Amino acid sequence: MEELKITAKIRVYHYNELQSGEKKIIDAAKEAVRRAYAPYSYFQVGAAVLLTNQEIITGNNQENVAFPSGLCAERVALFYANSRFPDTAVDTIAIAAYTNGDFTEDPVSPCGACRQVILEAQNRYKHPVRLMLYGKKAIYVVEQITDLLPLSFGAF
Ligand code: THU
Repeated sequence: MEELKITAKIRVYHYNELQSGEKKIIDAAKEAVRRAYAPYSYFQVGAAVLLTNQEIITGNNQENVAFPSGLCAERVALFYANSRFPDTAVDTIAIAAYTNGDFTEDPVSPCGACRQVILEAQNRYKHPVRLMLYGKKAIYVVEQITDLLPLSFGAF
């Protein structure tokens, strides 16, 4: 029997340690929560996608009275970015969440379905997608989505 260990490297930052370009993406994700439509969960999520052409596309969660019909912020932002710039790679996705009158203390992490969609963008453009997960206490920076989705499904 052999045991495999899977590790993920996550760098932990405070906002004032970030470079100005990185602050800009985090700020865009935080700003996008304001336009979220979350009347059922009251959990507003914002995502900002930085493309390799330097465009920043934002999105936010869009809920529905028929719950499964809603969509997370990350997928709203990514699908819109891909629909506008189908030939441009995704460089970074920043995520922030706001609930009970404030941004979350802990970094917000993408759900499993969003991880799968982020992986598709990484594979499609053969370019690592960096994640910046905002929390008031800390910002987690993950260099590529495979760190958050090990043993992912691939085409055989
Ligand atoms: N949500 C996101 O938009 N992104 C995530 O990464 C986690 C969850 C949304 C879905 C739903 O509208 C609300 O947050 C509560 O789960």
